[in-house]
Amino acid sequence: MPTELSRLANSLTPSPTRAFDKQARELAASGKNILFFTLGEPDFPTPKNIKRAALAAIKKDFTHYTPVSGIPELRQAICDKFKRDNNLAYSPDQIVVNAGVANSLYLAFNCILNPGDEVIIPVPSWPTVFSQVKSTGAVPVFVQCKEENDFEVQFEDIAAAITEKTKCIVLNSPCNPTGAIIPEKTIKKICELASEKNIWLLSDEIYEKLTYSGKHISPAIYHQNTITLNGVSKAYAMTGWRIGYTAAPIQLATAITSLQGLVIGNPTSVSQKAAVEAFIGSQSSVSKMKKEFRNRRDLIVKLINEIPHLHANLPKGAFYAFTNVSGLFNKKTPDGKTLSNSVDVAAYFLNEALVATTPGQPFGSDAHIRLSYACSQEQIIEGMAQIDAAVRKLR
Ligand SMILES: Cc1ncc(COP(=O)(O)O)c(C=O)c1O
Repeated sequence: MPTELSRLANSLTPSPTRAFDKQARELAASGKNILFFTLGEPDFPTPKNIKRAALAAIKKDFTHYTPVSGIPELRQAICDKFKRDNNLAYSPDQIVVNAGVANSLYLAFNCILNPGDEVIIPVPSWPTVFSQVKSTGAVPVFVQCKEENDFEVQFEDIAAAITEKTKCIVLNSPCNPTGAIIPEKTIKKICELASEKNIWLLSDEIYEKLTYSGKHISPAIYHQNTITLNGVSKAYAMTGWRIGYTAAPIQLATAITSLQGLVIGNPTSVSQKAAVEAFIGSQSSVSKMKKEFRNRRDLIVKLINEIPHLHANLPKGAFYAFTNVSGLFNKKTPDGKTLSNSVDVAAYFLNEALVATTPGQPFGSDAHIRLSYACSQEQIIEGMAQIDAAVRKLR
């Protein structure tokens, strides 16, 4: 009999978004020509100036341990970025560079949460957030964001979810998977309430640079006990470099640094040098990528809305079209299966249309599927035509 694992280990399941992507990749490996609309990563290469900075770092043997919280040059560049883009004045000792925002989230939750604490999470949301909250023994409390409100979280719903056990409110604007951007007036009200009740706000701003309409606001402007997370993965097409960062009140930043020291030692030296260049170098590739994402957004949403029974709101940011597929429920596939939920629809699109999407259920809405439009316009046209043909086969 194998020796027992921990309760935490036994509670872990693979990331649901990656699991669905894996299934599609297996089908592709078996020879099927699958079009992927699954993972949230830009299809662009990392900009050349950033790659050059990394190569220079390797040539100069910048390949050893660094300070746990990140090299001073990078933390200063992040402070300058906060001042320039967000009108926030941080000092470098309030900044901790992490191995991606997934890592930043984990460290932050483990430094603020105790078992039984409640964390308010507007849904639909990136599922990693609830899994991480649960892994600490804290309790996720979901606040549903409605499609008719463009998936914007409503202040009243947050206020109604607060109890004596509430320790943290999570905001993610622009949002994965809906692309919603929280308006400044709502952010301000949430911040006032969080200040009054002495609750942490955790703001995941990874899609900040991919904002097409509406204005990105950092809640830290209005609430001191805000943990701001951001990174280079999405804006600079640097998902594999694993650089994210946390800005927090000094006491928390110090605790996060200590925990990071225990678990990863420091973020990768070469990636840190690359990230410095991302922040201080030319930003022209960011605007080019954003322009292309905007064109793809307009294209995919138009094509989705031409497919019978499907509907997608125009997302204000990020690179996902969160598509309502509930109009297909109770319809029969050519081989007699009835579609009942988002997993059934995504499986049908994968097998019949050879288009890989992600079911909305793990994000917190079983009426939707998520299509990542971080792919070419040709692929968008082809993929939507294949979905259209598959939908027309349903009875
Ligand atoms: C809302 C959100 N936060 C964070 C991340 C992960 O970012 P990183 O690559 O920096 O870990 C993702 C990735 O999909 C995301 O959607």
